[in-house]
Amino acid sequence: MKRFAFATVSTLAVVAGSSVLAGPQAEVLHWWTSGGEAKSVAVLQEEFASNGGTWTDMPVAGGGGDAAMTALRARVLSGNAPTAVQLKGPAIQEWYEEGVLADISSVAEAEGWADVLPASIAGHMMCEGAWCAAPVNVHRVDWIWANADILAANGIEMPTTWDEFNAAAVKLMDAGVIPLAHGGQSWQDATVFEAVLLGIGGPEFYQKALVDLDPEALTSDTMVQVFDQMRLMRGYVDENFSGRDWNLATAMVMNGEAAFQIMGDWAKGEFLAAGKTPSEDFLCASTPGDGYLYNVDSFAMFDVDGEDKKAGQDLLAKLIVAPNFQKVFNLNKGSIPARTDVALDDFDICANLSAEEMGSTSAAGSLLPSYAHGMALRGSQSGAITDVVTAHFNSDMSSADAVQQLADAVANSY
Ligand code: BGC
Repeated sequence: MKRFAFATVSTLAVVAGSSVLAGPQAEVLHWWTSGGEAKSVAVLQEEFASNGGTWTDMPVAGGGGDAAMTALRARVLSGNAPTAVQLKGPAIQEWYEEGVLADISSVAEAEGWADVLPASIAGHMMCEGAWCAAPVNVHRVDWIWANADILAANGIEMPTTWDEFNAAAVKLMDAGVIPLAHGGQSWQDATVFEAVLLGIGGPEFYQKALVDLDPEALTSDTMVQVFDQMRLMRGYVDENFSGRDWNLATAMVMNGEAAFQIMGDWAKGEFLAAGKTPSEDFLCASTPGDGYLYNVDSFAMFDVDGEDKKAGQDLLAKLIVAPNFQKVFNLNKGSIPARTDVALDDFDICANLSAEEMGSTSAAGSLLPSYAHGMALRGSQSGAITDVVTAHFNSDMSSADAVQQLADAVANSY
């Protein structure tokens, strides 16, 4: 009886062209399952609920989102796409080209997104002139995190060159400390690789090698040096690194089991969720070298039927870019707001450094998209590179062989 009455009311609501009675609905696919990530996504769930929305959570564990993207493909192929999906970089345009994304321009225009987002970020959210995704934040990828006590006890400063990093690592190994906390998953290998490549080759080399896929850059001596450094990095990780989740690697730094981690600033979300304080318990610095690798999280809405779901998509898109959410979410997540008009007074020293260097690198032309986090290349190309990086990291492959395999893999990925 109750059920029947409800069906009648919601049918009436749809007939009347209003979704108010049924309420906005959203099934949200994301991969934010670690401590800091879960705390952050809860901010969105709460805002959605307090605005009358009903949130159905679809978390797919797995850092970097590879597992989430596999789950997404299965859902779309079975004709049952989620309402909203954590999606970023060129994957947004790839899905748009498949004709399955919703146009959220009406929300973007009503909310004036074009006036509050940097053009570089807005560009990632557009598909053939329409807004097709809503940006949540800017994560910086090329960070190095350190346990403050371990560095102090061993007389080590935050390294500013890769030689300094190597010297610190040797010193730590001699003292019986694991220099680098790392999880042997391909996306984590790729995260370290792009930071090393940016540092050793510089921003122009990064652009040529990992954005333009220039064959000369891919086969250059500089690329050989990058793999040489990766071989050294392999020597700095502990024996149990294989398959370890990134947040467990962060915990090793937190607990004093390892000195450093090279990871995007979602790692800071973990430190903060565990009650740690920057500059006291842990240190942050950009990895040695110039440039800034950005990684913008965003949500795309999939084409779904039902006024309640469409209302959910509109509400979600509006909340995501609104100033309050951008502030509170990013305070938890470790990132900085995508909007330029959110004051950073309540943000910590690492976030302020990120914002400052995002500005200076943007002016200098060295603000670059992260390949490891799906901002620079289409999936087939970034996948081809990552396969080689991981194969090299997990074997005794020479740098020269790795460079050859890299060039071949990229050439075959088109
Ligand atoms: C995402 C972050 C996430 C991290 C680890 C990155 O690709 O952009 O939001 O915290 O992966 O899962």
